[in-house]
Amino acid sequence: MSTIKAAITAISGYVPEFVMTNDELSKIVDTNDEWILSRTGIKERRVLKGEGLGTSHMAEKAVRGLLEKTGVDPLDIDLIIVATITPDFAFPSTANLVADMVGAKNAFGYDLSAACSGFLFALDTAAKYIECGKYKKVIVIGADKMSAITDYTDRTTCILFGDGAGAVLVEPSTDENGIEDSILKSDGSGYPYLHQKAGGSRRPASIETVTNKEHYLYQEGSSVFKFAVTNMADVAAEIMDKNKLTADDVAYLVPHQANKRIIDATARRMGVGDEKVLINIERYGNTTGATIPLCLWDFERKLKKGDKIILAAFGGGFTWGSMYIKWAYDSK
Ligand SMILES: CC(C)(COP(=O)(O)OP(=O)(O)OC[C@H]1O[C@@H](n2cnc3c(N)ncnc32)[C@H](O)[C@@H]1OP(=O)(O)O)[C@@H](O)C(=O)NCCC(=O)NCCS
Repeated sequence: MSTIKAAITAISGYVPEFVMTNDELSKIVDTNDEWILSRTGIKERRVLKGEGLGTSHMAEKAVRGLLEKTGVDPLDIDLIIVATITPDFAFPSTANLVADMVGAKNAFGYDLSAACSGFLFALDTAAKYIECGKYKKVIVIGADKMSAITDYTDRTTCILFGDGAGAVLVEPSTDENGIEDSILKSDGSGYPYLHQKAGGSRRPASIETVTNKEHYLYQEGSSVFKFAVTNMADVAAEIMDKNKLTADDVAYLVPHQANKRIIDATARRMGVGDEKVLINIERYGNTTGATIPLCLWDFERKLKKGDKIILAAFGGGFTWGSMYIKWAYDSK
C-alpha cells in the first residue's frame, strides 16, 4: 500500500466577462426567467466572446491564477490533465496547448473526456500519479466552452449551459489530509440521451450534418434528469457508507451544477442540510467539466483544513461518480 496521499493544495478559476441573463435568453427563444429559475436554479451564465478563443483560453487563465497564488514555477509542473468535451481541436490536446501557453515546458499533458464527470475522473487519475510516487505536481483543469456546441434556438438546452474553467494543483499531502476515496462509474448505453451527433469519426462533418444542426449538444432532458437524480444521489450515499461517514461528519457536498433539483435530491439522499451544499449554479449554469472546481474556487474561503468533503457528479456518457476528500489547507 502506498503511504503517499494526494491533496488539492491550491485552486483557481476563470469565467468570461460576458454575462448572459435569463432575460437576454428570453429575447432569443420562447422562455422566461421564472421558468428557468424554478426548473433549474439558473439565473445567468457566462459566454466566452472573441474570435479564435477556445477552451484553452479559459484554462490558461485559471492555471495562471493558480501559479500566481502558489508561486509555483511552471517548469516544476509534471503533468496537466484537462477534463473537457469542448477541446480547441480534436487534436492536439487542449492540455498540450495550455502547457505551452503557461510555460510548463517539462510537463506532458492530455485531455480526458467524461463530460460532466470529467473533473472527478481527472482528479482521481492525478491522485494515482501522486500516490505511486511518480510525480509531485499535477494540474487538473475542468474547462468547457459550452457556448461552442449550444444551439441558441433550442430552448430546452440553451438555458442550461455556460462557459468557464477551474484548475487545481495536486501534490503529495504533508499530513493526514487529502484525497481519501473515489467511486467512478460509466455506462455507454446512455449515450443516445446526451451526445453530440456529428463531428466524430462515426459521422464526420458534412454539409448535411451542419444543416441538420448535428454539431450541437443533443439532449433528452427529462430522461437525463431521471438518470442523474438516481445515480448522483446513489453514488454520493455509497461513498458515505463505504467510508462510514454520517451526515454530521460531512462538512460540505460539492456537487456538479446541472440542475438545482438534481443537487437537492442528492443532498436529501445523503441527509445533509442545505447549509452544507455549495451551489453557484445561479451564476454560471452548467459549465460541464468546470462546475466542481469553479464551485471549490468560489467557496474556497469557507473550506477549512480537515473538512470532510464529498464531490459528486453525473454527466453524458453516461458517467458519474463521487469522491471523498479531507480538505488540506486553510485559504489565506
Ligand atoms: C432540461 C430540463 C431543465 C427540463 O425540465 P423539465 O422539468 O424536465 O421539463 P420538460 O422537458 O418536461 O418540459 C416541460 C415543459 O416545459 C417546456 N419547456 C422546455 N424548455 C423550456 C424553456 N426553456 N422555457 C419554457 N418552457 C420550456 C417544454 O416544452 C414542456 O412543455 P409541454 O409540457 O407543453 O410539452 C430538465 O429536464 C433537466 O434539467 N434535465 C437534465 C439536464 C442535465 O442535467 N443535463 C446535463 C447532465 S450533466
